[in-house]
Amino acid sequence: MITGTGITKTYKQRGDVLGSREVRALRGVDFAVPRGGAVSFIGESGCGKTTLGRIIAGLETHDSGEIVIDGTPMTPLSPRRRRPYFRRIQLIHQDPYSALNPTRTIHQTLRAPLELRARQTGRPGSWIDQRAGELLSLVGIDPGYVLGRYPHQLSGGMRQRVVIARALTVDPEMLVADESVSMIDVSMRLSILALLKDLRERLGVSLLFITHDIATARYIGDAGELYVLYRGQVVERGLTESVIHEPVHPYTQALLSAIPVLHGLERPGRERVVPTEALDERHADEGCLFARRCPFRTERCEKELPVLAGCQDSSHEHACFHPQRRAVIPVEAVA
Ligand SMILES: Nc1ncnc2c1ncn2[C@@H]1O[C@H](COP(=O)(O)OP(=O)(O)OP(=O)(O)O)[C@@H](O)[C@H]1O
Ligand code: SF4
Ligand SMILES: [Mg+2]
Repeated sequence: MITGTGITKTYKQRGDVLGSREVRALRGVDFAVPRGGAVSFIGESGCGKTTLGRIIAGLETHDSGEIVIDGTPMTPLSPRRRRPYFRRIQLIHQDPYSALNPTRTIHQTLRAPLELRARQTGRPGSWIDQRAGELLSLVGIDPGYVLGRYPHQLSGGMRQRVVIARALTVDPEMLVADESVSMIDVSMRLSILALLKDLRERLGVSLLFITHDIATARYIGDAGELYVLYRGQVVERGLTESVIHEPVHPYTQALLSAIPVLHGLERPGRERVVPTEALDERHADEGCLFARRCPFRTERCEKELPVLAGCQDSSHEHACFHPQRRAVIPVEAVA
């Protein structure tokens, strides 16, 4: 089980003539990913998804809050003692082109972490190549075909499978997939998503899926939880199907309303919620973060910040003063 409580992160960005400005990338995010579970984070560009994924994978430090891995809080540990915990959480980058060293064959790419793993677990040298072959087969590629090749000789989909195989070399507890199919050819995307789902079921590895695309979040996280992130705040959270069928937060409803109609598989529901203004992060943070764009805002929304809480009317949590169920997507599955 991996949990986060009150995770915050603020970046200082160098501005133009007005000097530097602070960007609050995460504002007290709580999450829990059970062992073998699937959790998706969704939100538009700049809402803090990658920042959160990198913090969870131990690649970025947060300003405040606590991450607990299998009951052990990370903050009191030195960076050296934290490392073995974070090694169990592997980030799968969105860009399989830059994630692999172009000067190394796939064999060399997998051999380096497997050598370390063999030393750590007292396995013989002969195990290393055998395991490399097993892992490639596990991710659906023929070891004989790829082991001697360089990344540029492989398709984007194959490269992403190699990246996943490399992540599996350390026997991870959790994979963090950050827009992991966005740079792959559309025809390959579904097979990579199916692979991630399959690995979760077969290996019991949990999956944190980060995306701006509700259809992929729904496909991956059908049995798990969906978190909707807006400007660094979780504004709605619950079982994926429940959030998609009965969203109560206007921002979630706006996200769902924005889904294009594709081949009759997705149709807009009865109501559409369209933000009244484009996102502009320069505005002061007073009140609800969505207030300037929300068609349902009231005076209270402009003064007070709603916090994430449950409500009687819904099985999931939301951060809104005026939650109301709106059916914005039909029941048909997306796949
Ligand atoms: N290293 C950094 N230095 C300064 N600002 C940063 C840094 N990383 C992220 N930010 C800012 O933090 C905010 C959140 O960025 P983040 O990359 O986490 O968003 P995201 O949801 O992953 O967006 P996208 O969908 O475009 O990938 C953005 O405003 C971004 O400009
Ligand atoms: S709190 Fe108010 S402004 Fe914010 S999302 Fe809810 S109705 Fe809209
Ligand atoms: Mg990102």
